[in-house]
Amino acid sequence: MDQVIQNLHMNGGTGETSYAFNSSVQKKAFYKTKPLIEEAALDIFSKFYACSSATMTGKSMPIGIADLGCSSGPNTLLLFSYLLNTIYDKCREFDSVSPEIKQRSFGPCFAARIPGTFYDRLVPRDTLHFVHCSYSLHWLSQVPPEIENNNQGNIYISNLVHLVYQILFNPLKLKSWLRHCCPPSMIDAHLKQFTSDFTGFLKCRSGELVMGGRMVLTFLGRASVDPTSDEGCSFWGILALGLKDMVLEGMIEEQKLISFNIPHYMTSTEEVSMVIQCEGSFKIDQIEVFKVNWDSSEDENSEVDSYKAANCIRAVSESLLMSRFGIGEEIINKLFHRYMEIVDNVPKEKAKYTNIVISLTKV
Ligand SMILES: C[S@@+](CC[C@H](N)C(=O)[O-])C[C@H]1O[C@@H](n2cnc3c(N)ncnc32)[C@H](O)[C@@H]1O
Repeated sequence: MDQVIQNLHMNGGTGETSYAFNSSVQKKAFYKTKPLIEEAALDIFSKFYACSSATMTGKSMPIGIADLGCSSGPNTLLLFSYLLNTIYDKCREFDSVSPEIKQRSFGPCFAARIPGTFYDRLVPRDTLHFVHCSYSLHWLSQVPPEIENNNQGNIYISNLVHLVYQILFNPLKLKSWLRHCCPPSMIDAHLKQFTSDFTGFLKCRSGELVMGGRMVLTFLGRASVDPTSDEGCSFWGILALGLKDMVLEGMIEEQKLISFNIPHYMTSTEEVSMVIQCEGSFKIDQIEVFKVNWDSSEDENSEVDSYKAANCIRAVSESLLMSRFGIGEEIINKLFHRYMEIVDNVPKEKAKYTNIVISLTKV
């Protein structure tokens, strides 16, 4: 497995910088996708549970559900509790279910944590009815091999927004920054890696899901067709700026920054649909785009809560940064303090994550 990926995990525990304490953006995204999850759950219920002869005769009919990349913290069991409640409520009101079954309790529920990457097969053939994966598929299986040492000090696809921030903070640095725009080969390399990874993901899930099984996938993505649009790049761009400042202050080795890239890709609805159509195992039922504020607030008028926005990125990237740069808590604190200062200058309307949710049926 790629070494960068081996070091990827969300911050553990329940402290101030833990993922558990800083995953309200992901929770908000989950709530926004509930209607699609409910539709898929009820479809599964009617296809595989309510009308099955096993259910009619009172025998249990197992339903397999997987939440891939569920991490730890309050979001981990959110999907299961919501799905079980939805199906349970439906089960009680469903006309075709006999009174005995209506009164029967829902039956035992068996849960398991499965180690391994979702870019490989995880469970036996035809055992799943519903797969959910939220805020995880934008993580690539590896940094695209073509871009090692070749990204000019950026850590992701970069754009000119970085330059604007740089001008705000230090006009003298502008000249050196003009060298730091993203070459088109970076964009191609990311898209190629995403296409290969997501195709592999679909093939694996197609083996594991029964025919007619459903998936709801939520990606951190972009609404624009342009991969360099600031909606997709700015939060990594801000981290790159902070890292560059740490280099200037002698806290991080420049060479390590030059060779560091985030194994991440923020896709678009067009790209995701194209991969699904080319792979061919799934039909697209619905696809939607929605935004969530960087600080997870609903308030459009107040300033961005830069502390919350910084801790959200810290909780997902700290493991990678510490292992890659060999830095400890003191430098990480300085880095994210700098991150906050930069976010304080980002207008609220720009400080939003774009999300893509897609609902699929195995055909
Ligand atoms: C931001 S968290 C999302 C957690 C949860 N789904 C939520 O919405 O709060 C991303 C999760 O994806 C996991 N992940 C990333 N790449 C993965 C892979 N290839 N296989 C399995 N899990 C992966 C990470 O370890 C992490 O737990």
